[in-house]
Amino acid sequence: MSSINVALLGFGTVGRGVYEIIEQEQKRLTEILGCSVNIVAILVDDETIERNVPSHILVTSSAHDVLTQPVDVVIEAIVGVEPAYTYLSQAIEKGCHIITANKEMFAHKGHELKQQAKERQVSVEYEATVAGGVPVINTLRQLVTVNRVVQIEAILNGTTNYILSEITNKQASFAEALQSAQQLGYAEADPTNDLKGYDALYKAIILAELLTGTKVYGNHVFREGIKSVIKADVIHQQLKGSRVKHIATLNFGQGQIDIRVEPKWITSEHPLYHVEGVDNAIVMTGDYVGRLKLEGPGAGQYPTASVMVEDLVKIFSRERKLVNN
Ligand code: HSE
Repeated sequence: MSSINVALLGFGTVGRGVYEIIEQEQKRLTEILGCSVNIVAILVDDETIERNVPSHILVTSSAHDVLTQPVDVVIEAIVGVEPAYTYLSQAIEKGCHIITANKEMFAHKGHELKQQAKERQVSVEYEATVAGGVPVINTLRQLVTVNRVVQIEAILNGTTNYILSEITNKQASFAEALQSAQQLGYAEADPTNDLKGYDALYKAIILAELLTGTKVYGNHVFREGIKSVIKADVIHQQLKGSRVKHIATLNFGQGQIDIRVEPKWITSEHPLYHVEGVDNAIVMTGDYVGRLKLEGPGAGQYPTASVMVEDLVKIFSRERKLVNN
């Protein structure tokens, strides 16, 4: 292989971040992988907008035109189940590896994409779908080579954590805190999925499917958003040493999994008590290792884009058997 050809699906905040990191880190990527990484095509929703990318890169709103380029890996950063699922399924059929940041799509269709990729002997990587720049997928993959994960407790949505932190620490109103989260670019364009807990639930499902190897979406889960949290209670409980956090809990029993996403009152002994602002955090309990915690930026252009480029390096290191380097 003289170069790795990449197609980008989506050129919003994360897609552009991937483009910039690949361009800026070209020398390092070439050294690590032994060949250059070339972006050959970018799928956009409106091709009349000037994107300031070199003219040798095809910029088009036609997915067909993108997927008929000579592409080795498709990197997808668009929103919603469709058309993303169809495009990725078509890419796998053509023998491309795929990398996605699309949590809603992957919670609904990740199991199917993994199955299809297995049959076509290509890779599916999805570190960016859960907790942005925090490497939770790869940590869990490594952990389960020996440990059984018995429980995960996690803050998986930056918007709700930010809102609850602002109410707790600054006595902000719900509306003020939501507005700041939107200005910071964390909330989804329509924040309903954040506030009602669907965004955190999608991420919890992706973790559950990773750990069980089965399709979880559609099974019984408990989900409650943060709308029921009352400011006066938050202030009162804070004085008594309790904070409210929006927590996803996954309990893995004997062949059973229980998933709950809900506001919980916790005290300072709890490992998620000090997770503030837009951070995400994941506390994993393995039967041999005990309790581990990862914390960091759960969204944002470069944190999310950087783990997608790491996914790319992982796929092609594996192909070249460089994984032990
Ligand atoms: N809206 C999401 C959040 C973005 O607030 O965490 C990252 O998935």
